[in-house]
Amino acid sequence: MLVAGNWKMHTDREEAIRLAEAVVAEVGDPGSVQVAVCPPFVNLEVVRQIIEGTPIRLGAQNMHYEEAGAYTGEVSAPMLKSVGCRYVILGHSERRQYFGETDEGVNRKIKRALQYELIPIVCVGETLEERQAGQAAAVVERQVRAALDGVALHSAEALVIAYEPVWAIGTGHTATPEQAQEMHALIRRLLIDRYGEAIGRALHILYGGSVKPGNAADLFAQPDVDGGLIGGASLKAADFAAIVRAAH
Ligand code: G3P
Repeated sequence: MLVAGNWKMHTDREEAIRLAEAVVAEVGDPGSVQVAVCPPFVNLEVVRQIIEGTPIRLGAQNMHYEEAGAYTGEVSAPMLKSVGCRYVILGHSERRQYFGETDEGVNRKIKRALQYELIPIVCVGETLEERQAGQAAAVVERQVRAALDGVALHSAEALVIAYEPVWAIGTGHTATPEQAQEMHALIRRLLIDRYGEAIGRALHILYGGSVKPGNAADLFAQPDVDGGLIGGASLKAADFAAIVRAAH
């Protein structure tokens, strides 16, 4: 199981320090559960110092697909690697919705992240309109296929998929465990088709979208739900730690 906190555009420096310290204290020893926090770029370094020597790992929320160059305002894979990131969230629906990210761009980012041994947490998920139109499965299948086009994987640890239905993000409307499992099973089949039984079965598929201490255990109990990508609840250390415990 893997539980990752996406802090989104929250926390100034002082808040990031306090939250990281509280997460370390509240999570304690997570046993076999892998735990990561993904603060804003400017707080990666200060959070790295706090989580160093603990079981908590560091992730970023985005990166550019080029290694370096005249791309004002952007951050590259080698930069993230150099400040201690293990994970990078790619293709989050907020990036697709507000910043014009495309399947093709996400695919390029994944390839670059893998080159630098960053573990991409690749987000997919349908909008409410797409679900109501009966297109949820087709949309997610298209996103997964496009993201992984030409992506070779030699280990199941190299990449993570996060299913985040857009209608469940920050809305309080969590997918039911059955809805989550249905889509995770579809993603699992695609991964097995693409990478074979051993890697396909072992790849982590996270659920994201209004995960809270009260609903996490039921979601994580589904056979193809291998953890969660947590937004709002990751900003409260006690809630985040409770979600980590639900993954045991
Ligand atoms: O990446 C996590 C996410 O989008 C879910 O956010 O606030 O619904 O847990 P939230």
